[in-house]
Amino acid sequence: MSYETILTETRDAVTLITLNRPQALNALNGQVLEDLISAFAEFEADDSQRCAVLTGSGDKAFAAGADIKEMAEKDAADFYLEDFFARWTSHVAEAVRKPWIAAVNGFALGGGCELAMMADFILASDQAKFGQPEIKLGVAPGMGGSQRLTRAVGKSKAMEMCLTGRMMGADEAERAGLVARVVPHDELLTEAMKTAATIAGMPSMAAMVNKEMVNAAFETDLAQGIRHERRLFQILTASEDKAEGMAAFIEKREGKWKGR
Ligand code: HXC
Repeated sequence: MSYETILTETRDAVTLITLNRPQALNALNGQVLEDLISAFAEFEADDSQRCAVLTGSGDKAFAAGADIKEMAEKDAADFYLEDFFARWTSHVAEAVRKPWIAAVNGFALGGGCELAMMADFILASDQAKFGQPEIKLGVAPGMGGSQRLTRAVGKSKAMEMCLTGRMMGADEAERAGLVARVVPHDELLTEAMKTAATIAGMPSMAAMVNKEMVNAAFETDLAQGIRHERRLFQILTASEDKAEGMAAFIEKREGKWKGR
């Protein structure tokens, strides 16, 4: 399917989604949201696809935020009545059960940083810059940034970034735990696709369960999270891939996965 504001392609079991408004530094307007919702739904529904990568087109930006020109036209009633930003959480962050990676190739500011943090993990180019500069526009994060950034990097750094709008470079972001890994700019997409292919080669139901377990750590207390983990583990032991995976190890061969 083709979209107005994003590009999509599949390479074997990996879907690549590219934000494609380079003239606006890939700013996230309503059309981008609609296109991303459809592309993620398509990825989720296609059994041949097992991991996705989201990146930005051009050399400069992953996404420089929600579209300021679009937001400038709206008043408080518009934001409230549209429940502006709610669908980012329900249809992008929460609806996708398969793993996906944000490959951050430049600016990830405001909504752009928040979108990257909706991914299961972030791989960053050494030129990436992260920030929550909304305060400079008289607003604040609205797509989960105050919560996800704080959980990722802790209160002090999150507070400083939200209150000053300061950008954080890739190395600082890695040290702070916001990104999984920093790679040279020119190798980012190759590395992200390679990492996604590794994940796509895993038993896919186990990948979904691993994702669900780690995400539970953000939503539950420790005792509940550990109980949830144990139950999911026990469910996985009934899978065909568990029998195959353990047999393959014992027989010293590669596993052949069914995804169930
Ligand atoms: C709309 C944007 C945009 C944005 C950049 N552009 N960011 N358009 N919304 N968020 C547009 C510019 O207007 C410009 O268009 C073109 O992209 C290139 O940007 P420049 O500013 O000329 O580039 P540069 O000088 O290199 O500066 C890069 C930048 C700067 C530092 C990233 O663009 C910037 O500060 N952008 C805004 C970042 C931001 O505040 N993001 C948070 C948004 S609020 P023209 O037509 O002039 O060429 C948000 C939270 C939402 O995301 C939740 C709260 C309600």
